[in-house]
Amino acid sequence: MYKLALVLPAFLLVAAPVLTPQQSSPNATGQNSGYSAIPVEAAKQQNPVKPSPESTARAKKWWAMDCEMCHNKAGDGKGETAKEMKLPMMDFTNPDTLKDRTDGEIFYIIKNGHNNMPAEGPRLKAEEVWDLVNHVRAFAKKKDADTKTQ
Ligand code: HEC
Repeated sequence: MYKLALVLPAFLLVAAPVLTPQQSSPNATGQNSGYSAIPVEAAKQQNPVKPSPESTARAKKWWAMDCEMCHNKAGDGKGETAKEMKLPMMDFTNPDTLKDRTDGEIFYIIKNGHNNMPAEGPRLKAEEVWDLVNHVRAFAKKKDADTKTQ
């Protein structure tokens, strides 16, 4: 009798703090599941802008103004704003990061934003967003080329 009275409150003390944060966790559905919101038609859209030095030059202007503070100049996700806001960033220099994404999906994410990623909306022309798609893809390719020449 006496023993049980001691064990029960002790169990509640241990269990309560473990259970509460789990219930309020916003990420309970898993990291990438939110992207299912991208419409199939948008994902299938073909990129009309071929990667080229001109496309890269146009993309760099917007990248420096609108993207670098989070994704960093190198595309590795270590930008100052991302650090300050403690955002969960991905590394575009890793070829695995975007390998399962279509150009259409990347276009859609840049245009419409996602979670902490702000939307470009109508600020950019469609061609300029495609330039950024090419640029985002090029971070991984550049790293590939770098390691091959070394
Ligand atoms: C305020 C910080 C911030 C800025 C500015 C920003 N991003 Fe992002 N970006 C993020 C975060 C955070 C994610 C992850 C979103 C998520 O988890 O839903 C992301 C995700 C992405 C993705 C999706 C990667 C994937 O496959 O999941 C792409 C592509 C991207 N950003 C490109 C850009 C481009 C291009 C710009 C500039 C036009 C830009 N971002 C500006 C924070 C930012």
